[in-house]
Amino acid sequence: MRRSLVVGNWKMNGTLASAELLVKGIIAGLGENIADIAVCVPYVYLPKVSELVKNTALALGAQNVADKSSGAYTGEISAAMLSEFSCKYALVGHSERRSYYGDTDESVAARFCQAQEQNITPILCVGETLEQREQDQTFAVINAQLDAVINLAGIAAFDAAVIAYEPVWAIGTGKTATDEQAQEVHRYIRQYIAAKDQAIADKIQILYGGSAKPDNAKGLFAMPDIDGGLIGGASLDAESFLKIYHSI
Ligand code: 13P
Repeated sequence: MRRSLVVGNWKMNGTLASAELLVKGIIAGLGENIADIAVCVPYVYLPKVSELVKNTALALGAQNVADKSSGAYTGEISAAMLSEFSCKYALVGHSERRSYYGDTDESVAARFCQAQEQNITPILCVGETLEQREQDQTFAVINAQLDAVINLAGIAAFDAAVIAYEPVWAIGTGKTATDEQAQEVHRYIRQYIAAKDQAIADKIQILYGGSAKPDNAKGLFAMPDIDGGLIGGASLDAESFLKIYHSI
């Protein structure tokens, strides 16, 4: 049985004061340890939040990581820097990074490897745009996104990674994939991994992201290949994030 995981992606939201309130609110409402839970916070809030989550079940993550280990890369943050703040996870290849900041399949693969070199679990985000879905390109897009990482890191690297399926058309739009639409792609991803390594496919957590909310989380999480969620907007409020967590 795979353990579930719920991750909040705060994106570029909040203040230092609201970050503190939010984290304290989440910790206060965690209750029974039913699944893994983490928040991916803006880089500058890592020092504060890493102190707040110490000795709690709430893990810390970053929203990206550099594709190089160190050097003259102005504005980048290395995996070694993230590990100084006890980051357990780093998102790589979020669609907002891919579409607004030019993160390519190849640079996403390099970021994935950089995270793992510091024992940070990469959360590899994959997903198709509406246009790609309408042109029946969903599986081809996901193949390419997965292959870039498999080719660089090897399938064995997925033993210490998480995959998040985030259909771009569902992110921040209020248009969630139906339980069946999401399950279809999650099953496809698991089978794609299984064709290369069955044990890893059985073990890997595959999260759904895209307008996941307290009122639709239960249905999504009940699907056999959905192991939790990557939550944007609804993770900015402790109560709604906790409701999603408790839907596991
Ligand atoms: P929303 O939950 O706001 O749609 O965002 C999803 C997402 O992009 C999480 O990484």
